[in-house]
Amino acid sequence: MKSPVRVAITGAAGQISYSLIFRIAAGDMLGPDQPVVLQLLEITPAMGALNGVVMELNDCAFPLVAGIVATDDPNVAFKDADFAILVGARPRGPGMERSDLLQANAAIFSVQGKAMNAHANRNIKVLIVGNPANTNALITLKNAPDLNPRNITSMMRLDHNRSLSQIAAKVGSHCTKVEKMVVWGNHSATQFPDISHATVDGKPVVDLVDNDWYVKEFIPVVQQRGAAIIKARGASSAASAASAAIDHMRSWALGSSGQWVSMGVYSAGNSYGIDEDIMYALPITCENGEWQEIKGLAVSDFARGMMTATEQELVSERDAIAHLL
Ligand code: NAI
Repeated sequence: MKSPVRVAITGAAGQISYSLIFRIAAGDMLGPDQPVVLQLLEITPAMGALNGVVMELNDCAFPLVAGIVATDDPNVAFKDADFAILVGARPRGPGMERSDLLQANAAIFSVQGKAMNAHANRNIKVLIVGNPANTNALITLKNAPDLNPRNITSMMRLDHNRSLSQIAAKVGSHCTKVEKMVVWGNHSATQFPDISHATVDGKPVVDLVDNDWYVKEFIPVVQQRGAAIIKARGASSAASAASAAIDHMRSWALGSSGQWVSMGVYSAGNSYGIDEDIMYALPITCENGEWQEIKGLAVSDFARGMMTATEQELVSERDAIAHLL
């Protein structure tokens, strides 16, 4: 058995965490030989509910759980953390403007960035899930100047997985046969799920589907999937979001075996001419605990228009909280 690693999870009493924490504890994220200390953060009013989650974790008698910390203090939650998944965020309340939402979250993620900067392992791998995830990640990054910006990422894997599943259903295959999918940009309705490089069983997806399906069905379905789940379930995606977070971290920590994945990363030095100071999802492969951008992919005029639209949204989100960066 390896020695335990510390995994901090925020919003630990919320619905995504109710799936996420138990899967991490079962070894789905870091493998069956990696013990974990779970460091769970909540706001003070939710500490009673978090205590219930801890009781259930104890009742699972997970072999890989080496310790559990439950706290409402970010400085405690991020102490020596090797991994952090930031799920807790302020949801949009009635009558709340987009800029109010951005600012309310900026307050949360600046505190958490500072706490990680002060207390976390210097090589911590951070995933921001709480929305608006990309801009929350940018705030975290700006408040953690001593951490490597490459170690702060935001979640696009749910959008990536949704794309694999839609393509597989369309062509009558399985999602494991779909490769080289890319989702660019923001985790929002402007995201660009791009099939131009994707293959199924090695065959180009663009040869298997017609352009009308791609533009009029596939792209909107993936972009609007979150809203469709809320409509159907009466609550936002939780188990699938948790599963995507597990996939993101597992690929990053253990490698993606040559497979392309989509990750929101700090855009500095990107090869696609995207603004260099935002968190933007790019095509990525992971190896030896590091991610690498897949550079030099051909970009059609259509793709460029889509990539620019989602870039501009991220720039405007950044501008709305510029005074806090
Ligand atoms: P939820 O409302 O069930 O849980 C959120 C939890 O965060 C609550 O227990 C709340 O008390 C806690 N929290 C709020 N502020 C906190 C703080 N400052 N520190 C620690 N904990 C705090 O929400 P759910 O369904 O678990 O979703 C969480 C977030 O994930 C939402 O922002 C949602 O929009 C986002 N999300 C992101 C996805 C992505 O692909 N990036 C996909 C699905 C959801």
